[in-house]
Amino acid sequence: MKGLILSGGKGTRLRPLTFTQAKQLVPVANKPVLFYGIEALVGAGIREIGIIVGDTRTEIRGAVGDGRRWGDDVRITYIEQPEPLGLAHAVLIAEEFLGREPFVMYLGDNILKSGIVSLVDSFRERKPNALILLTPVPNPQIFGVAELENGKVVRLVEKPREPKSNLALVGVYMFDSHIFEAVRAIKPSWRNELEITDAIQFLVDHGYEVQPHLVAGWWKDTGKIEDILEANRLILETISGLVEGAVDEATRVSGEVIIEKGASVRSSTIRGPAIIGAGTEIADSYIGPFTSIQKNCRIVKTEIEHSIVLEGSEIVDVGSRIDESLIGREVRIYKCPPKPLAYRFMVGDKSEIGLK
Ligand code: DAU
Repeated sequence: MKGLILSGGKGTRLRPLTFTQAKQLVPVANKPVLFYGIEALVGAGIREIGIIVGDTRTEIRGAVGDGRRWGDDVRITYIEQPEPLGLAHAVLIAEEFLGREPFVMYLGDNILKSGIVSLVDSFRERKPNALILLTPVPNPQIFGVAELENGKVVRLVEKPREPKSNLALVGVYMFDSHIFEAVRAIKPSWRNELEITDAIQFLVDHGYEVQPHLVAGWWKDTGKIEDILEANRLILETISGLVEGAVDEATRVSGEVIIEKGASVRSSTIRGPAIIGAGTEIADSYIGPFTSIQKNCRIVKTEIEHSIVLEGSEIVDVGSRIDESLIGREVRIYKCPPKPLAYRFMVGDKSEIGLK
């Protein structure tokens, strides 16, 4: 079996971060979201992986490389998608890479806690034409939605205004080569995309076997900030503490905390689960639960929790606690002189600031 990861697209819901960074490379617990997908495929025994790339191709290639870091026999092939014309379009342009082999299609911004090993095994054994993953959600109208009757898939609708069920399509699918017949037959949707949801409906309508599976454990589509923070929380809940950086005697560390090599922590309280990246300096601060600080940051006289801080950022002397925030790369947040009593901003397009 081969793997196909979709890592093109625009990432408009994550602006401003995605003005300068691929959405699939935003880190969750200090690891790019995309790497969780690659690891899931490799964990299920898949060695040949195609990655669909668009505008952010250079950055994705730079981060992922040839795949050997996941195993000597892992091979990554990049497949260029000139425009994000839809998930089914991505399948269409990957035909040469995929050949006639069955494959797992994994959306590069999805994280599934339980991995996909047993699902891939079941697909290999029972050989349906497609296997889809479903999970109940409170807001089905923002996903592809499936209707089941007697355990069989009867209808799939992409982002329905009035959903007929609460079962969302999770961004992991398995197909045999009949999917090419389907993606060639469908027409673009109202959002001008070739929808994989419509291609799967084609399979259902033409008597092919589409097997539904309910996902055990949590699943996150990290397309929005609150989902990234939530994924960060869920992954951090699973870490084991490891202190390799320098921590002074005046610091208190509790819970599961990873402090990477070359990080230094002075006179601070770190309450896990949390992760502090290499080369980061923390002083006179409180780092609360569910916080990921990437490498080479500087946090001084600041309290922060439930947040993600990306590479090279500096947060100094912020008067109140920072909570539920996603702070980009090389951002500076600092205290102004006492007079005039004013905020001072230099904020990029599409940024968001919440004041108390
Ligand atoms: O996350 C699950 C949902 O993913 C499903 O419930 C929906 O049925 C499915 O259509 C999809 O919806 P989204 O609107 O969230 O898809 P998004 O545009 O975010 O794209 C998903 C991934 O695929 C993302 O990593 C970008 C990539 N992509 C997207 C498009 C449209 C491509 O590589 N090429 C594309 O043309």
